Parts: sequence; structure tokens; C-alpha cells
Amino acid sequence: MEIRAFGRDVGLNGYTDPSEAKHLAEFGGVPGLVLDLGSGGGWPGQEIIVRSGRSVVGMDMVLSGLQIARQRVADTDIADRFHFVAGDGQRLPFAPETFGTVLHADALC
Ligand SMILES: C[S@@+](CC[C@H](N)C(=O)[O-])C[C@H]1O[C@@H](n2cnc3c(N)ncnc32)[C@H](O)[C@@H]1O
Repeated sequence: MEIRAFGRDVGLNGYTDPSEAKHLAEFGGVPGLVLDLGSGGGWPGQEIIVRSGRSVVGMDMVLSGLQIARQRVADTDIADRFHFVAGDGQRLPFAPETFGTVLHADALC
């Protein structure tokens, strides 16, 4: 698939690594709540919270990923800024303009 999309094997593994999460966190986007669509195990939402102090909603249709992400931040000082919603990103259950920034890292693929 990478060869079809990029013309070469660029080493994608389907998950955001810490350096990519750092890059996304520093990108910033528009101020306000961040939606991490297809949040999986919690990257890069966790990194965005730590680096920017913003609050993030992680949304995924797979409960086990949400549970991993929640456990990853439980008992940390960012737990109250990382919220989780189970659902299909093609049918967002949020009011318009709830989020300043919406990102999807290796999701919807
Ligand atoms: C390859 S993983 C990437 C996870 C994380 N974003 C990362 O970079 O580590 C893709 C994730 O997107 C989720 N996903 C795919 N389609 C989705 C949809 N329509 N709604 C919600 N989540 C979706 C999958 O369940 C999976 O957790």
C-alpha cells in the first residue's frame, strides 16, 4: 500500500510513534478542545496533553483500544484532561464547533 500511495516503502506501521506524536503536539492546530479520532492506545492524544496542556477527547470504535488508553493515563496528572468516547468517527456525536482541532493519525485507513 505504501508503494502505491508514496511510490516507496516509507516504513509505516499503522501507529503513531512518540516522535510523530511530539511533532503533532507541537503543530498545535486551533486552540480549544482536541478530538483524536481513532485514538487507539492513546497516541498522540497523550503527548498533546503533556506538551500543550490542552484537553483531548479520544474516540475509537474499538473498546479495547480505549481501555488501554484510559489505563495508560489513569493515576497520572493528565487523567482529568483525557476523555474517551466509543463510537464510529463517521457519525460524530458532538455539537458543531465542539473542537478546535480534529486529528486522525493512521485511522480511517
Ligand atoms: C492503526 S490504528 C492507529 C491508532 C492511533 N491513532 C495511533 O496512531 O497510534 C487505527 C485506529 O483507528 C480506529 N478507527 C478506524 N476507523 C474508525 C472509525 N470509523 N471510527 C472510530 N475509530 C476508527 C481503529 O479502531 C484503530 O484504533
